[in-house]
Amino acid sequence: MSAPPAPAARLEILADAGELAERAAAVVEATLAAALAARGRARWVLAGGSTPRRLYRLLAERPAALDWGRVELYWGDERCVPPGDPESNYALVRATLLAGLEIPAARVHRIRGELAPEAAAREYEAVVGRALDGGPFDLVLLGLGADGHVASLFPGAPPPAGLAAPARAPAPPRARVTLTPAALASARRLVFLVSGAGKAAAVARALAPAAGGEPPPSARVRPRGGEVLWLLDRAAAAEIEER
Ligand code: 6PG
Repeated sequence: MSAPPAPAARLEILADAGELAERAAAVVEATLAAALAARGRARWVLAGGSTPRRLYRLLAERPAALDWGRVELYWGDERCVPPGDPESNYALVRATLLAGLEIPAARVHRIRGELAPEAAAREYEAVVGRALDGGPFDLVLLGLGADGHVASLFPGAPPPAGLAAPARAPAPPRARVTLTPAALASARRLVFLVSGAGKAAAVARALAPAAGGEPPPSARVRPRGGEVLWLLDRAAAAEIEER
């Protein structure tokens, strides 16, 4: 069994995937609304994969929760596929979140997965650089792979420098673009959204990395001064829940 999370990280365990999505929606809405109230804008780095689908659908059903027209969307990573490809993280958001919320296209900063990874990464490096010139992201949402990867930062791969970089996934679609640890750590609030028994071991390793071993990718994205919140369902927390 692993030790409780480091003091800097908060952890909430919800009964199941449905309650997890509901809680995550409340956290996203509260975080973005607070950013709008404090700074007149809100910048959100979205997670890819399948776990956030339910969350994005819930948010799209509640457009009145905040002034979504002033929110700026970024992606934590993208597969190098066309934007309409079912594997595209942008396609996921377009089919869910953007299907119900009015966000101007100029505020939707997708990674152009249709380009070669190096070209897409170079382009996105500038996009993220401009964003961070205005201060840290208000919210960075990340999933967690069963192998412990976050965004497209995979265990065993040297963490890339800069703000955006090409990456290679161990499983298709292999060609990726990812935000780097430095970019992902530039967050006022970093939320990990993890569901399912298949992630329990990765969650345990992430919250209590083995001493002396290579730090898991999730440990490399600790925001300086920002808050880290783990939102888990009971199945994903199975290896940390028992004391
Ligand atoms: C991606 C994601 C990736 C994802 C994890 C978890 O492009 O696949 O950015 O980091 O968050 O692999 O994926 P699931 O939510 O599908 O389990």
